[in-house]
Amino acid sequence: MDTNLITRLSYLSPKTQVRESPIHGRGLFATANIAKGEVVAVKGGHIITREEVRDVNARLGPVEIQIGDDLFIAPVRDEEREPSMLYSNHSCDPNLGLRGEITFVAMRDIRGSEELTHDWAMTDDDDSSTKCSCGSRNCRGTLTGKDWQRPELQKRYAGYFSAYLAEKIAQ
Ligand SMILES: C[S@@+](CC[C@H](N)C(=O)[O-])C[C@H]1O[C@@H](n2cnc3c(N)ncnc32)[C@H](O)[C@@H]1O
Ligand SMILES: [Zn+2]
Repeated sequence: MDTNLITRLSYLSPKTQVRESPIHGRGLFATANIAKGEVVAVKGGHIITREEVRDVNARLGPVEIQIGDDLFIAPVRDEEREPSMLYSNHSCDPNLGLRGEITFVAMRDIRGSEELTHDWAMTDDDDSSTKCSCGSRNCRGTLTGKDWQRPELQKRYAGYFSAYLAEKIAQ
């Protein structure tokens, strides 16, 4: 039996590889062509609250994906960090979107050398602000935890927002 099956928390497509990224640290890259709609990654971990995520971030760094107003999915123990990490960096010109809250799918056909990225606007609702280093031509410079409210992004990512944000946008 493949012991990787037992220790793995998240799923990464066999068409992906984690390596050094020009955006930040390590990133997730395609190693083969990926068709629009293909599942690229599924985040696994524990379901924790915003308060609990602060403690996790202090110990493990940024490892979580937001899945609700006060809910996140993340590793909580040191040994769970690597098996849970997706390594998808943020890009203002992303090629991945969300199906539901933890499944990342290709938003378009992807070539087998591209970095696999999502836009934090698709997943995050918080009060943070980050200088973006995505390098894309349409980079918005500063990322905020309220970018999901931007009308142009709501239009561009329609159908690819995390389900909890799609529900807020529809309201
Ligand atoms: C889940 S990690 C992604 C993997 C990360 N590159 C690594 O090596 O661990 C998310 C963190 O990566 C960094 N990051 C990702 N995309 C970024 C971007 N476009 N601009 C600035 N920082 C970014 C930020 O520090 C963020 O907190
Ligand atoms: Zn950017």
